Parts: sequence; C-alpha cells; structure tokens
Amino acid sequence: MKEKSVSNFDIVIFGVTGNLSRKKLIPSLFNLFKNKCISNFRVIGFSRKIFTDKEFRLYIKDSLWQEETDSLIEIFLNFFIYVFGDFNEKEPYEKLFKFLDKNRETVYYLSTSPTFYGPIINHLKKYSLSERLTLSKIVLEKPFGSSLETAKKLNSLLYSAFREDQIYRIDHYLGKETVQNIFTFRFGNSIFENVWNNRYVDFVQITVAEELGLDGRAEYYDSVGALKDMVQNHILQLLSLVAMESPIKFDSEFIHDEKVKVLKSLRKISKEDIKNCIVKGQYIGSQIQGVFKKGYRDETESLVNSSTETYLAMKVFINNWRWSGVPFYLRTGKGLARKFSEIYIQFKKPSFTLFSNSSVDFSNALIFRIQPRDGIEIKFNTKKPGYNYEIQTANMEFSYHGTYKRLFDEAYERLLLDAFLGDGTLYATSDEIESSWEFVSDIANKWADIEICNYFYGSEGPKEIDSILEKDHFWRKI
Ligand SMILES: NC(=O)c1ccc[n+]([C@@H]2O[C@H](COP(=O)([O-])OP(=O)(O)OC[C@H]3O[C@@H](n4cnc5c(N)ncnc54)[C@H](OP(=O)(O)O)[C@@H]3O)[C@@H](O)[C@H]2O)c1
Repeated sequence: MKEKSVSNFDIVIFGVTGNLSRKKLIPSLFNLFKNKCISNFRVIGFSRKIFTDKEFRLYIKDSLWQEETDSLIEIFLNFFIYVFGDFNEKEPYEKLFKFLDKNRETVYYLSTSPTFYGPIINHLKKYSLSERLTLSKIVLEKPFGSSLETAKKLNSLLYSAFREDQIYRIDHYLGKETVQNIFTFRFGNSIFENVWNNRYVDFVQITVAEELGLDGRAEYYDSVGALKDMVQNHILQLLSLVAMESPIKFDSEFIHDEKVKVLKSLRKISKEDIKNCIVKGQYIGSQIQGVFKKGYRDETESLVNSSTETYLAMKVFINNWRWSGVPFYLRTGKGLARKFSEIYIQFKKPSFTLFSNSSVDFSNALIFRIQPRDGIEIKFNTKKPGYNYEIQTANMEFSYHGTYKRLFDEAYERLLLDAFLGDGTLYATSDEIESSWEFVSDIANKWADIEICNYFYGSEGPKEIDSILEKDHFWRKI
C-alpha cells in the first residue's frame, strides 16, 4: 500500500525550543521526511531564546540522533527558519508573517503552556491576512482547558478565527497503534460483537500507570492533578473507544459522533456516592534499591502543603442499553511500580460450573496492552496435559513486535501527518472535549471532602482502592 504523503506547506512551531518539541515534534518531522511522507515544507520555529538561523539549526540537530543519516539531517536542517520574541508582543508576529506565503498552507502548532493560547490566537487573528487564516490549520497540545467553562471559552476563541475542520486538539494516546487497533479489533471482526455488552462483560478496567514522579513539571502538575491531567483526556478517550457503537461509516465525523454519545452517557456521581466510587492518592518518599525517592510534597518547596492527587482510582458507569450495570474501573497515577497501560475486559463466568473441583477462575478476559509490549491478549482455560483432568489458564497473544517487521512506535508521527493531510479522526473534537470536561468538572466540584491516601513511591498505589470494587472484582497487578 502506498504511504500517505503531503507536500507544499509550512509549519510554525510556537515553543520550538521546549521539551515537547525537541523530544517528539522535531524527531517525528525528521522521520516523516526520511520516509518521504512530507516534502517541500518549511519549519518556522518561534520561541524566546535568541538564536541566529545557524545557531537554531545546530540546536535542532542536537535533538536528532540518527548518525547513519547525517547527510539527510543536513538537508532537513535547511528547511528550518527561526523567529525569536515574546508571544505577547506584536513584532515577532510581523517578522513571522514576512516569511509566510499567503497562498501556501500553514500549520500553526502551539507547543506552549496553555496560558499562551489566548495571546497567540489573538495575534494570529490580528496580524494574519484573513485569506491566509482560511488556508491554515491549528494544532493544540493538552491540556485543553482546565474546566468545562475554560474549555468552552477556548473553543469560542478558536472559532473566532478557525473552522472546526481547521482545529486539531492533540491527545497523543489516539496515535498509539494499540489504541487504533481497539477500533479495528471491534469493528473489523465479528466474533466479539455478540459478547460486547452487559450480558457477557463483568467489568472493564483501564489503567494508565506512570513510573516517574513529577519529572520537573511541578508547577503545571500541581495545578491540575491526575483527574484533569489524565482522566479528562487519555482515559476517557480509551473508554469511549471501548464502549462506542459502530459508526455508520469509517469517517471522522461519524466516529466522533459515536464517541460523544458514550461520553454524554457517563453517569454523574452523586455527592453522597463519591466516596464509594473514588479514591485519591499522593505518593510519599521511599527507598528503592538503595536509592531514596522523594515524596510529592518534598519535590519542591511549593508543594509542602499540596493536596493535589498524584493517583486516582474510580468506578464509573455508562447509562445506556449496552453497558448499563457494568463497572468501568479507571486508574492512573505517578510514581508507581512501573510504566504500564492496558484495557482489561473481564467476561462473566459460565452460568454453570462443570469443573467444580478446580480452583481456576473461569472468567475469560481480553486485554489490550498499550505499554509495555503492546499487543492483544485473550485469557482462556485449557486442560493441562496428563492423566488427571487438571485445568489451567492460558494466554493467546498477539504482539506487534512478534508479528510486524516495521513498527510505528511514535504516535506523534502519525498525528502530525494526519493534521497535515486534514484528517481529524485521531484528534478530539470540541464536543468530545466539552463532554469529558462536563463529567470531570462535576467530580472536581464535589470531591473536596475525599481524603488523600498515601502510597509509597514505586508501589502499586494506595491499598484503599479495594474499597470501591464490587464483589469478586479485583485490580490487575501493575
Ligand atoms: N513535554 C511533554 O512531554 C509534554 C507532553 C504532553 C503535553 N505537553 C504539552 O505541550 C506544551 C509544551 O510543553 P513543553 O514541555 O515543551 O514546555 P516547555 O519545555 O516549558 O517549553 C515552552 C516553550 O515556550 C517558549 N516560551 C515560554 N514563554 C514564552 C514567551 N513569553 N514568549 C515566547 N516563547 C516562550 C519557551 O521558549 P524558551 O526556551 O526560549 O524560553 C519554550 O520553547 C504544554 O502545553 C504541555 O502541557 C508536553
């Protein structure tokens, strides 16, 4: 199959010298260029650091490490131009627009703190020619808003300059292969459809666990916490893909419509019930292999009295025919035993227990492993070879690394290419964002009384999370 490709455009990266740009955006652009997916393009970087174009290119070169393609890197660097200045001032935008051709498509990538989204969009509106804006696209990083109100405000600001089909709100989880495979697995195979509902599914568990603690982002993280940083976007996106109905067409608009219906069907958690459905945690210091790892409140002086949750476990329900009564357990945290993300779907036990003398758990399970070792796993029971009738649980596994020679590990490559091509399927729409904020903001407004439970850095999280499980349910080992 021919690779997708796109040509003749400019990308302006606001915050080009930042962490995300150097770690993800520049290496992804290079790989797209190397794989001939993009051609005849320019990258205009915009940040505060004072660089000449030559110094800027050396700085960019530093974020690329492929030695064997040195000559290709030199060609790639020639596409880079730099504008320095403050996002809040007019002059750098005037310089920027001198570089841009009004007849050529421009993609504005806002890789900056969200506090600059307003000033940047207003400057684009003010100083860019309207025909140039009509031909452009804008990509925004997460977090998109900090509540339902702020997300709505940001959407209206965007709509004052761009149409919805020009706006790309990144959730990089949607660019991951296993996440895209949830869609193919569900709607490209018929064998699971009949059991994909409350008659057969016992519970669903979605885990996104991070091994690292703050990783230098204290100020940002303390203002959001796990609910707003992870649940509002990545986790609710995963939930909507698992729970959605089949769209009538494999087309962005129809897929988004079905995801929104799921998000709108999430049952609001009442104030009385909130303690039975949610556990908040914060990591404390611990000794790991002889090295002391600081607790959250000891990371910086400003966090000494912080009550921000670095961990969250919650039980939610979807109020519709397919899922009514099935608990969806959602769990995320920092400073945990390892980096681990998966979607676990446990099916109900057979209605009649034939093998009553066996200690095996007869529930089957399907697991989408997002990281590490991305793949899909099915847990089922087999007879162990031998004279006795002994039953043992076995796994049927599909792994990307075992099956495919060529892997796409970097979600940003796929997402950038889709934005350049104008395909918004793997981006979040305003409806999705606002529906997930509606659910999350409602919790944030009600949960002040929930106490924070401590857990040791490097552990599985607070032990109190068992209290929200229904009978016979369990948390998967991280
Ligand atoms: N880093 C990640 O892994 C990651 C992951 C997911 C989402 N994100 C999101 O991506 C965005 C960027 O994150 P980041 O980690 O790359 O941030 P960062 O490392 O702090 O970079 C910020 C960038 O903005 C520039 N900048 C700051 N203030 C400026 C001003 N007044 N005028 C002009 N330039 C200014 C900085 O330029 P100077 O260097 O010149 O000061 C730098 O290039 C954020 O929205 C974040 O939430 C990041």
